[in-house]
Amino acid sequence: MKISYHGHSIVKIQVNGYAILFDPFINGNKLTDLNVEDQKPDVILLTHGHNDHVGDTVEIAKASNALVVAPDELANYLSWQGVRTHPLHIGGSHAFDFGKVKLTQAFHGSSYTTEKREIIYTGMPAGILFFADGKTVYHAGDTALFSDMKLIGERHPIDVAFLPIGDNFTMGPEDAAYAVALLKPKVVVPVHYNTFPVIEQDPHDFAEMISITEVKVLNPGEEMDI
Ligand code: NI
Ligand code: MN
Repeated sequence: MKISYHGHSIVKIQVNGYAILFDPFINGNKLTDLNVEDQKPDVILLTHGHNDHVGDTVEIAKASNALVVAPDELANYLSWQGVRTHPLHIGGSHAFDFGKVKLTQAFHGSSYTTEKREIIYTGMPAGILFFADGKTVYHAGDTALFSDMKLIGERHPIDVAFLPIGDNFTMGPEDAAYAVALLKPKVVVPVHYNTFPVIEQDPHDFAEMISITEVKVLNPGEEMDI
């Protein structure tokens, strides 16, 4: 399984011939190395409805016919825009050809703001567990620290966890370091920082707070094999 990070919360996984894109916020993301036109994923996984996560999903999914897997209300909203969707909800999982996806809780909001400045509420935000090739990846989405992270890690031992460290809207570095102690992943990758002034962080400060788990600070475009 090849995993790459592309700025903000964008993660790409390549496994068994499938390309899976998480939270493809490309336009407006000053950190990303990706272009919308070049994205031909088979699957897009969304954690919640905020614009910095849904991003360019509709355009990419329409051009590539990618399947969009998202929390139910968000999946419905996107399906009305002509996108192929599969709704899931928290605690539910589904085995797809490309791997198994399970949604976890996340403590955050979930709404999409349209160009007309309407706010469409899109249900509950989620984290995503992705299982393929005998590996487990946890993308926490946007969330606060919560004690049931311990349960998530016990129930599904995690190979790689993507955790937000930006603070202000999500966990900051100290809470994210505490989250690592609860989740006990083999590897943790910090995400959701430095995209906007209010979420500026030095990921190496986060790395220094963690002793047991390996921390990989990935620059946008960097890849790892697990
Ligand atoms: Ni958010
Ligand atoms: Mn966000």
